[in-house]
Amino acid sequence: MHKKNVLIIGSGGREHAIAWKIAQSPLLHRLYIAPGNGGTGFTGTNIPISDCDFEAIKRVVLENDIDIVVVGPENPLVQGIADFFESDNLLQDVLVVGPSKLGARLEGSKDFAKQFMKRHQIPTAAYETFDKSTINKAIDFLGRLSAPYVLKADGLAAGKGVIICNSLDEAVVELKSMLFESKFGEASSKVVIEEFLNGIELSAFVITDGISYKVLPEAKDYKRVGVGNTGPNTGGMGAVSPVPFAGSDFMRKVEERIIKPTVNGLLAENIPYKGFIFFGLMNVNGDPYVIEYNVRLGDPETEVIMPRIKSDFLKILIDLGENRLQDSVLELHNDTAVAVMMVSGGYPGTYQKGMVINGLDNSDLSVVFHAGTEYLDDSQTYITAGGRVLAVSATGDNMSIAREKVYKGIGQLSFTNHFFRTDIGNDLML
Ligand code: AMP
Ligand code: GLY
Repeated sequence: MHKKNVLIIGSGGREHAIAWKIAQSPLLHRLYIAPGNGGTGFTGTNIPISDCDFEAIKRVVLENDIDIVVVGPENPLVQGIADFFESDNLLQDVLVVGPSKLGARLEGSKDFAKQFMKRHQIPTAAYETFDKSTINKAIDFLGRLSAPYVLKADGLAAGKGVIICNSLDEAVVELKSMLFESKFGEASSKVVIEEFLNGIELSAFVITDGISYKVLPEAKDYKRVGVGNTGPNTGGMGAVSPVPFAGSDFMRKVEERIIKPTVNGLLAENIPYKGFIFFGLMNVNGDPYVIEYNVRLGDPETEVIMPRIKSDFLKILIDLGENRLQDSVLELHNDTAVAVMMVSGGYPGTYQKGMVINGLDNSDLSVVFHAGTEYLDDSQTYITAGGRVLAVSATGDNMSIAREKVYKGIGQLSFTNHFFRTDIGNDLML
């Protein structure tokens, strides 16, 4: 088989984990990451361009004879990177792993996602969508719900567009701020108000060609900054896979009630979709409900998903491109994977960058995926360049062994003012 040149778009721990996995494939010729980070530059070649600069991406693809583009984050997808490739004669034969602009609306518009679920009878919280002109109806609707109240900006808001309020008064204030004061900019010009679901969260992932799909390992993310799920929400402080409370019965329900109707729904609506679907789920007394769709992999979920994939992941992507996903083999390791984020002091609020990271050469039991890091050639040092800095990931026969390896790995690493959650996976120990 002709070996492939692969370009990964993005710069986080997710992209480093994808790069790490693809770099292990004998089918790989050359690997590029744009823009990448301090870690990806050693797994492949970093190219300093923005993830939404399609013309620059085109240049890189043509100059480096790229066969496959894996899109990490949602923004380029929602802005139509797959359609940009599809409509360009020079790029048409390049596989973009990521949905069309139409498909990316599953993440780009909460209202679209909710309507889609309604059309296909996919279990989700009851909801209605409002804008400025329907504020009075929105307040009536809130009055008919009971606390807590869930308000969601319709558009992309960098993961921050969901507000959960404990009182009706607070909900009305927040709603007005979203609609009339552009709390989340244009993203909150429409607001989805929905019923609160009481349960335990987890995420399921598939790779799909829009007809068939393969179920990737499920994962649980720890979103709050503090131990015991306290403090503000973050992009994710750690993740584990598999998820012990998502047994085979539950995952069968996820597949029958959620995954199949979603993929079939995309097909029925003629929405081209070659890429990942991330199902944010709530397990409510053993029944799965969709909280949100994302049209990409999660971060830090990918840092536990990739280590659990036994098969050649690049081969699966090649099969996807050649419309043979159905016959592709996805084998998993039975191990438990745990990833813990080391973050900058102050995160998710303001934090400093440029701290020297020590100990990166020592890790042996764990893998260190870089997120917000930069490598300085002159001094041959790594410095911090973001809030989430490193994702330390390890696998083991059980949660306890995997956790031990991760926290040992973290113990060898340091930078000024760093912190991390000490309780990732604690709640799931048998
Ligand atoms: P999202 O950005 O849609 O993932 O929402 C952020 C977080 O808000 C989720 O991870 C959940 O913890 C919570 N959330 C969203 N929708 C609901 C809901 N309907 N019921 C309960 N919690 C929710
Ligand atoms: N960890 C959540 C996300 O990637 O959206």
